[in-house]
Amino acid sequence: MKKELILTNDGSHSLFIKKLNETYHSIHGSIAEANHVFIRNGLQFHPKLNINILEIGFGTGLNALLTLLNLKQKSVNYTSLEPFPISDKIYNKLNFHNLLKSNKETFIKLHNSDWDENVPITENFILNKLKKKFQYFNSSEKFDIIYFDAFAPEKQSEMWSMEVLNKCYYFLKPNGFLVTYCAKGVVKRTLKEVGFIVESLDGPPGKREMIRALKKES
Ligand SMILES: C[S@@+](CC[C@H](N)C(=O)[O-])C[C@H]1O[C@@H](n2cnc3c(N)ncnc32)[C@H](O)[C@@H]1O
Repeated sequence: MKKELILTNDGSHSLFIKKLNETYHSIHGSIAEANHVFIRNGLQFHPKLNINILEIGFGTGLNALLTLLNLKQKSVNYTSLEPFPISDKIYNKLNFHNLLKSNKETFIKLHNSDWDENVPITENFILNKLKKKFQYFNSSEKFDIIYFDAFAPEKQSEMWSMEVLNKCYYFLKPNGFLVTYCAKGVVKRTLKEVGFIVESLDGPPGKREMIRALKKES
């Protein structure tokens, strides 16, 4: 599907898919949204220092970049699934690293690192990208955090089904959690049915709420 580069309200890029009438991020700000949902309420909320993250939808690589730039004393193994990678023509144009004042090489390395390999991007950040859908994902590992960044339920309903959210639950460690920008009632109800403890948190700019869903220690 054709993707078009757009500018969001905080000056950061996102992508627009005309056929779906859907953007990769909030138009109120890609960086602002990702920082709020995945970094502040995800990475920084987890008390552990060695963290296993699973991202559903690598896309532009923004969540991976922000995670790498906000590690502080943490180290992260970052597994990211992306069945439809963006082209080098597109990722070379993305302006995230300019706005975040980080170097372009690191951002490009996130994109052009090998698939299906554990690639050390920095000393404390290991990336394992998998070119597959979450529905076909399997692993002997479990995760501390899931960055659930699929397209919205109206556009990609299968990703918010009981089956998929149940699979997320299975792949989390006890006391692990999922974070997502979405705060729809139906998604909260499905998460609860799966067994999650669901928290509604303040949303990123332009949105009232977001969700963090915890897998309680059993
Ligand atoms: C809302 S975008 C967000 C992407 C990314 N996190 C970012 O910040 O750019 C959703 C992403 O999920 C990917 N995707 C679509 N179907 C998927 C599936 N079944 N499993 C995993 N990822 C999927 C899309 O290709 C797209 O890159």
